[in-house]
Amino acid sequence: MNASHAYLSHLFSLDGRTAVVTGGSSGIGRAVAGALARAGASVVVVARGPEQLGDTVDELTADGCRAAWVSGDLGTREGVRAAAEEAAAVFGEPDILVNSAGINLRPPLGELGEDVWDATMAVNLEAPFLLGQRFGPGMAERGFGRIIHITSQQAHRAFVDSGAYGVSKGALESLARSQAEAWSPYGVTCNTLVPGFVLTALNRRLQSDPERVAALAARTLIGRNGLAEDFAGAAVFLASGASAYVTGQSIPVDGGFSVH
Ligand SMILES: NC(=O)c1ccc[n+]([C@@H]2O[C@H](COP(=O)([O-])OP(=O)(O)OC[C@H]3O[C@@H](n4cnc5c(N)ncnc54)[C@H](OP(=O)(O)O)[C@@H]3O)[C@@H](O)[C@H]2O)c1
Repeated sequence: MNASHAYLSHLFSLDGRTAVVTGGSSGIGRAVAGALARAGASVVVVARGPEQLGDTVDELTADGCRAAWVSGDLGTREGVRAAAEEAAAVFGEPDILVNSAGINLRPPLGELGEDVWDATMAVNLEAPFLLGQRFGPGMAERGFGRIIHITSQQAHRAFVDSGAYGVSKGALESLARSQAEAWSPYGVTCNTLVPGFVLTALNRRLQSDPERVAALAARTLIGRNGLAEDFAGAAVFLASGASAYVTGQSIPVDGGFSVH
């Protein structure tokens, strides 16, 4: 290994690490799972649909990565608990937890019923909380851990019917700070990545309106909307030793969407 490779590997390699990535079968989660796996981690992707999960794992194993999938519904507490145990049984207790599974139901607030509120909070906020409770203390005991949440612009500002979704994401950033307070002294950093508008299945309906898509792109400084792959580098950074002194932070990966 030449000197620069050795240096980069010292900073960013995830060799020997284990990771659990929720929502790892699609969009941002899939790109993050791929990035962690290609950087050396053994990765378990968790979501509901077996087909996309299998497809993700097949792609990674074909690339020589160590990956596996667990099908579970993170919309119920029992589902979260079962998925956590199954995921930890594959490659062992995770060193890295990425919470990317999320839903965005967009009724106008006046029409937003308790069902939408409950479903949103369950997947977007309670599942990350419960997974943190399950894995955080073990990470702290072992002296290394990385918890990475995926939040949203709507944690910071209201637009396109933020409704319950924005509330769940705002709370998720607060959860990251609480987790950072609890576990950072023991080598467990907890941060969030804050996307702008990223072209994924989550907003397929919105993508059918080219004018809105173009307007969102124009709100960035880079001049385009996000791609799932834009999260690879930031995720590897936050999962690696290189970010040991970064905790409790919300880091935008948004093409400059949030700064003007
Ligand atoms: N795309 C954007 O513009 C954007 C912007 C800001 C924030 N985000 C956030 O980024 C994260 C990833 O979004 P994305 O755009 O990558 O979305 P996506 O392509 O729709 O992926 C969502 C993932 O979550 C899983 N999921 C949803 N409900 C679940 C449940 N009840 N139990 C288990 N898994 C579940 C999905 O798989 P199954 O359906 O098979 O379960 C899928 O793997 C989300 O937290 C989202 O809020 C996205």
